[in-house]
Amino acid sequence: MEKKIKVAVIGATGAVGQVFMWMLSDHPWFELAYLTASSARVGLKYGATTHWIIPVEMPLNVRNMEIKEFNFEAMKKAGVQIVFSALPAEVAREAEPQLRANGFYVFSNAAAMRYDDDVPILVPEANLEQLSLIEKQGYPNGGFVVTNANCVTTGLTMTLAPLRKFGIKDITVNTYQSVSGAGYPGLSSFDITDNCIPFIKGEEDKIEKEAKKILSINPEIYTYTVRVPVMVGHLEAVWLDFEKNVEVEDVINAWADFKRIPGLPSSPELPVAYGADPTFPQPKYAFWGSPKGMVVYTGRVRKKNNRIGYILLVNNIVKGAAGGSVLNAEAFVTKYGLR
Ligand SMILES: NC(=O)c1ccc[n+]([C@@H]2O[C@H](COP(=O)([O-])OP(=O)(O)OC[C@H]3O[C@@H](n4cnc5c(N)ncnc54)[C@H](OP(=O)(O)O)[C@@H]3O)[C@@H](O)[C@H]2O)c1
Repeated sequence: MEKKIKVAVIGATGAVGQVFMWMLSDHPWFELAYLTASSARVGLKYGATTHWIIPVEMPLNVRNMEIKEFNFEAMKKAGVQIVFSALPAEVAREAEPQLRANGFYVFSNAAAMRYDDDVPILVPEANLEQLSLIEKQGYPNGGFVVTNANCVTTGLTMTLAPLRKFGIKDITVNTYQSVSGAGYPGLSSFDITDNCIPFIKGEEDKIEKEAKKILSINPEIYTYTVRVPVMVGHLEAVWLDFEKNVEVEDVINAWADFKRIPGLPSSPELPVAYGADPTFPQPKYAFWGSPKGMVVYTGRVRKKNNRIGYILLVNNIVKGAAGGSVLNAEAFVTKYGLR
């Protein structure tokens, strides 16, 4: 059997870290070799110290793994090549450049380095060519950082990539975002129970900046982001204005023709799946698909005054976070032949 590539998860106990642990526990190419959290947990067993919040079972083989200190030499000694980061942005801002300088290949969920010119925000189905920015960071002679987009932007760009050919002039996107998007413990139950909060700090700016960088287009983007009392899964209501005349069927067909990247284990057969039922999609389908949580679902497509509208659902902790990073690492391994 081919040898697996050893990987570390840093920030393994948080909402995104837990999805990494779940997805990497039996990955065909990657082997979990090292994990970290905040320093208070060093030496503890993952299963005993982690407050598991994601709606899939904690894999048996990760329960006894020990949380280690954040130490480059120890990580190298453990044979780690790839590091998956689920750190808060302020911690990542310091840690990720150091990991890169120590030769690690970092796939990060944090926003800290997303806007650096030589760091790609990779959504491989939409902008695989931007992966070559790692060469500007020094690869193959050194390490690099590849980020994935903010969770809302991931869902949005997945649905927009196959529509770029129609000339996207402007985008209106209003979101209904689940509480897991704020990490754990996240919001106070006093604030979110039986309530919606029409403000998520920094989110609207991130969507505008990241969508333009990923898709290499420059449309006007109008957005509001709202937190809603849902555990996992962000809905987005999107309206688009195009340069060309576009019909509802053109949009549905473009998504149907948008194929997976062949050979990547975490890429679903149909990455953007449309459903005609007028009540589709809903956050309760966030873990549908295969691999679970990696499909972006769309529905309610309609046309008014030459604008096309639709609703999308993205699993914010899987496709919009850890799963996106795992897919990015698979794309890197395939393109650069690490295996
Ligand atoms: N949640 C989402 O839907 C989502 C989507 C896309 C991107 N992101 C981004 O992904 C990252 C992780 O998000 P999350 O929601 O998983 O956050 P979280 O639940 O707050 O988890 C943060 C993780 O980082 C660890 N950590 C915190 N401070 C640390 C420190 N000073 N040193 C070392 N480790 C530290 C925590 O360890 P302890 O448990 O020991 O404190 C925990 O494992 C963030 O940058 C976030 O913006 C999140």
